[in-house]
Amino acid sequence: MNIAVIGSGGREHALYWKLSQSPHADDIYVLPGNGGIEKSVDIDVHDFEGIEKFCREKNIELVVVGPENPLAAGITDYFNGKGIKIFGPDKAGATLEGSKVFAKEFMQKYGVATAGYHTISSPEHAQEVVSRYNGCCVLKYDGLAAGKGVYVCNSIEEARNAVADIYSVYGDNASFIIEELLVGDEISIIGITDGSSIKLLSPSQDHKQLLDNDEGPNTGGMGAFTPVPFADEKLLATIDEKIVSPTLQGIQAEKFSFIGVVYFGIMITSDGPKLLEYNVRFGDPETEVLLPALKSDLLQLFLSCFDNTLSLQKLQFNTNYFVDVVLTAGGYPNKYSRGDKISGTGLVTDGTLVFHAGTSLQDGSVVTNGGRVLNIVSAGATLDEAIRKVYDECVKVEFKDCFFRKDIGRRVQHIK
Ligand code: AMP
Ligand code: GLY
Repeated sequence: MNIAVIGSGGREHALYWKLSQSPHADDIYVLPGNGGIEKSVDIDVHDFEGIEKFCREKNIELVVVGPENPLAAGITDYFNGKGIKIFGPDKAGATLEGSKVFAKEFMQKYGVATAGYHTISSPEHAQEVVSRYNGCCVLKYDGLAAGKGVYVCNSIEEARNAVADIYSVYGDNASFIIEELLVGDEISIIGITDGSSIKLLSPSQDHKQLLDNDEGPNTGGMGAFTPVPFADEKLLATIDEKIVSPTLQGIQAEKFSFIGVVYFGIMITSDGPKLLEYNVRFGDPETEVLLPALKSDLLQLFLSCFDNTLSLQKLQFNTNYFVDVVLTAGGYPNKYSRGDKISGTGLVTDGTLVFHAGTSLQDGSVVTNGGRVLNIVSAGATLDEAIRKVYDECVKVEFKDCFFRKDIGRRVQHIK
């Protein structure tokens, strides 16, 4: 079967790598892809007609959508009924990620454990809610904001500044929510669903902030690891009962056409797990560790969603720990340079994976072309071993002003 993966990041490179291992896969193309993916085809993720034309030319039977934007723009609705399978929810289902207000209303309607919140109707209302929380609250812009648009506040002053900022960035009519500040450890639970059952991959943790010890500005993700030692069976059973199962009931009740991924961003609080957010696609950089950790055939899993056999699939996992360190261009998440030559990727030890993200090919050389440039992924029998290995590999890769966090996977050890 020929396949098209939509997107251009490390997540899509990992999907390409994993799908390539399936005996059922023939040619796999990535649109638009990047400098590390051989079969990259320069078609924009929003050019649905161009994607369809390409699929017809190459006899593609399955389209796997990586990022949220084409899902929110209705790529699945566009392809439905056209004889090409598409892995990703319809526009209505994608609203779980595309609108924070919609997602919170959905959580409340179906009894999903989450933080208390208010939908804000005016600047005065925002100030009143901020005072009620004594400044310990989180402001979330309603629409897709590429990892921005969330303000975590610990004081009245911070919260007032956040209110001012949200109106100045998103306009006087900005739609946003303010929710209770939760304290605890975060995990990402990512599942593949056919809309009636769901198969969860192993629990993982992302590191969203730029600097060690979770300091500095938020980014698209500086690294990830799996599995998460504290996510034991008891905790996972509670997450299933309080978050995953009610979500699936909601998806069915709302009649979304939902073949794809549900990503649950969860905070483990002293009062149990609470859902922070839904995404309707694989996490990035979580996917870069989750797919190496998955032993099962990913293509078979995807295809089982289309013939109602997902519930019969038994997922198998590697027993190793996997750690991903993201190498970024200096300056990211603000201004950074592009077009810098990358060397050393051929020097990494066998068994370590290099998933490209912000790279492109220029005159036969791979150069930087984005903020998050490469993902280096190593495995180990223990988390410590995987961490040691990955950092031995990271230093082999070079490009101008390369920057990466030195503490990926270490946060978990502060917990116990
Ligand atoms: P979100 O896009 O909703 O996942 O928010 C981005 C990040 O903000 C999360 O990964 C958390 O680190 C943080 N965050 C979101 N909501 C809360 C909350 N209610 N309490 C504390 N931190 C939060
Ligand atoms: N790793 C967070 C995300 O993919 O949104």
